[in-house]
Amino acid sequence: MAQHSQTGRVGVRHDPVTIVIFGATGNLAHKKLLPALYQLEMAGELPAGSRIVGFGRRDWTDDHWRDEVRVLLSEDESRLEPALGRLLTKLHFHNGDYETHDCFAALGQRILAPEFPACVMFYFAVAPEAFGPICQHLAAANLVDQSKGCRRLVIEKPFGHDIESAHALDSLLHKHFDEKQIYRIDHYLGKGTVQNIMVMRFANLLLEPLWNRNYIDHIQITHAETLGVGGRAGYYESAGALRDMIQSHLMQMLALIAMEPPPSMDPEAVRDEKVKVLRSIRPISPRAVHAQAFRAQYQGGVVKGENEIGYLDEAGVDPDSTTETYAAVKLYVDNWRWKGVPFYLRTGKRLAQTHSQVSVRFREPPQQLFRETAIAKTEPNWLLIGIQPQENVRFELQIKTDGLEMRTRTVQMDASYNNPEREKLDAYAALLLDVMRGDQTLFLRYDEVAWAWRVVDPILKAWSVERDFIHTYPAGSWGPKEAERLFDDDSHFWRNDLAILSH
Ligand code: BG6
Repeated sequence: MAQHSQTGRVGVRHDPVTIVIFGATGNLAHKKLLPALYQLEMAGELPAGSRIVGFGRRDWTDDHWRDEVRVLLSEDESRLEPALGRLLTKLHFHNGDYETHDCFAALGQRILAPEFPACVMFYFAVAPEAFGPICQHLAAANLVDQSKGCRRLVIEKPFGHDIESAHALDSLLHKHFDEKQIYRIDHYLGKGTVQNIMVMRFANLLLEPLWNRNYIDHIQITHAETLGVGGRAGYYESAGALRDMIQSHLMQMLALIAMEPPPSMDPEAVRDEKVKVLRSIRPISPRAVHAQAFRAQYQGGVVKGENEIGYLDEAGVDPDSTTETYAAVKLYVDNWRWKGVPFYLRTGKRLAQTHSQVSVRFREPPQQLFRETAIAKTEPNWLLIGIQPQENVRFELQIKTDGLEMRTRTVQMDASYNNPEREKLDAYAALLLDVMRGDQTLFLRYDEVAWAWRVVDPILKAWSVERDFIHTYPAGSWGPKEAERLFDDDSHFWRNDLAILSH
């Protein structure tokens, strides 16, 4: 049986693999996959004999691609020989396009040769329109048959554009692949800090009695980034922040925070519990969209001291676009544990900081015992979980300050767990390793994807017809004030970072 990733990734033996990357010269391969493969090589997790085949339209030889990858990876000076050299010898380039059967027949001839490992992973780092043709050609070239070795398919988001297209895509994949062969990637699940949500909840007894509607007032999940859309306007214009981040990464975090303890860490057991949360989310009726969802777009502004242009001025963006670069939603998980507790999910590009965190606000104590003293009112407890760049868990408690008067202040108990000494595997490296080992725990099952679409679909529908207005915010800010209209209570406010609040 496959080792669970959570039990420690490094050191579990696996056989050499052949990895075919469709979209090998694209953004994802450059930014994430090739650096992740270097990390795996460095960690000794790419067994000798493994081969990586870049499939692309360019008429490149193996040596040419190796030179390109050397230049790309050397941009980071910390990447060193001999690992870099070892990785480069494993690279091969296969010239082809996604429409032509002969290119896949030739790919088959090449990778089914004895010098290529029999277990093959196909990584779809391409635009979603190419998923269908690639699947069909792989099947026609007899490259999905597992009698000679594993055939695994790694598929990137967006998994569909809405619930109907997600169903269509899933049916298409299942025409040629079994569910056990399909790895739907959500790279957030590869982040150690995101996995730590489960460890923190289920390896400690401390939180469990408090982890419910009786003690928790509300929960915030924030993903903020200072970057704009960069060169991805083509994709982003049709996606927007709600699809890009909330339907996938943020809803996955919500599921981990809200799920019941699974009976075991078996992949299906974990995924069953996440699905139960997602299907318990109260459907948003068309009338409730405005009360539960908010969108906005960045204008020009100053981010980290640099002047940045507005979204509408980015190359490739329609000047009348109402695509949201900021989205916030309020969700309710209607089950015994969470009924009535708002979950605020928020994401945005060109915000003040690159920072992700989960903030859990507890309820007030049942009695304000210090009302008659100088304290008057105490602050509620918070639990803050830093996802990135800081990785830590902080409890905010009230303590008495020095002096004769009865006054309190907030202190933080900090359980930082960054260990700078030890090199961490990037989320993509960790997930690639899981695919090599055949462990699907941290990949999405289709029902998770479908339930998440069901939650956001009514919002997408409402926004797609409201094309004459969108709120704006200056680049470098924390988004528009109007987003506060989502709050259920006047005492609610956004926690933007891990710092203690100053009143
Ligand atoms: C991707 C989105 O899935 O996640 C990007 O498409 C976003 O728009 C990115 O920037 C954020 O990932 P990370 O790991 O940098 O937080």
